[in-house]
Amino acid sequence: MILGLETSCDETAAAVVGAGGEILSNVVASQSELHAPFGGVVPEVASRRHLELVSPVVREALDRAGFTLAHVDRVAVTQGPGLIGALLVGLAAAKGIAWGRGLPLVAVDHLHGHVASLFLQPEPVDPPFLCLLASGGHTLLLDVQEHAGFRAVGTTLDDAAGEALDKGARLLGLGYPGGAEIDRLASDGDPEAYDFPIARVPGLDFSFSGVKTALLYAVRDLPAAELEARRADLAASYQRAIVRALAERTLEAADRLGAASVAIVGGVAANSELRAALPGATAAPLELCTDNAAMIASAGRYVEPASDPLRLDAYAVA
Ligand code: KG4
Ligand code: ZN
Repeated sequence: MILGLETSCDETAAAVVGAGGEILSNVVASQSELHAPFGGVVPEVASRRHLELVSPVVREALDRAGFTLAHVDRVAVTQGPGLIGALLVGLAAAKGIAWGRGLPLVAVDHLHGHVASLFLQPEPVDPPFLCLLASGGHTLLLDVQEHAGFRAVGTTLDDAAGEALDKGARLLGLGYPGGAEIDRLASDGDPEAYDFPIARVPGLDFSFSGVKTALLYAVRDLPAAELEARRADLAASYQRAIVRALAERTLEAADRLGAASVAIVGGVAANSELRAALPGATAAPLELCTDNAAMIASAGRYVEPASDPLRLDAYAVA
């Protein structure tokens, strides 16, 4: 039985996962309402909220699984990358639990966690596969040959796809976090209304700064009344450009690497158009796309426990 903790950004999450990858509980306390008035995550506010939430969330994860700490065999926690103050809260909590109960502590990389969202029951996906990881902080193409790790073959040169969607949502006057809002609004719009550019940078990398600037100009040039009328078309066209960039590069990478199968994970993998654009790919279950602790516990099954757990430190950047 593995207890997972995740506090890298604005979700305080704890989960209990069985050794075979069964999700016994998966509790996510989102702070997004707290950060919404600021239009993005305020790191110090996030750390303080994690501090308030981490114990009750762990308790709830154990309760929902019908367990106590006495049933737990190991503790897995996100070590990085993410907001350093936020990470430290989860890491300190996990150290306390592991030390107090004499349990092994496993430090999990958040990106490995996203990949490991695919290894959970009831429909686990086993390597090898090519994985598109698209979230608010990262956009990566990963060659996954084993459960324990991966090799990055492509990355974004500027913004992450989720970041571009969130910034676009802000330009369109939508709420935070914006990816899901754009997804919803886009279904009422015409994706061909605006011809937003898709950056084709060399290799297998991505770039989203150009499309973001194109949206900025389109919005700036519209009178306020007109913007209201065109909002859905702008959202649909903007989402279309980002999804095409992601889908085309992913298929190109699969082709180049001779990958037999393709998977998509991370918050942006929840996007309905992206899921439809890659019909042959396995997408992580919707509730496991955005940050959660079940994926951290899942990855924790494949990583050796720390030899000196109390000395573990968090890292902000991969
Ligand atoms: O994986 P995640 O929860 O956190 C990070 O590790 O960054 O991803 C959050 C990102 C945000 O940018 C959010 O706007 C985006 O995922 N997102 C979506 C959707 N749901 C969440 N983007 C597009 N469509 C969605 N349905
Ligand atoms: Zn994430």
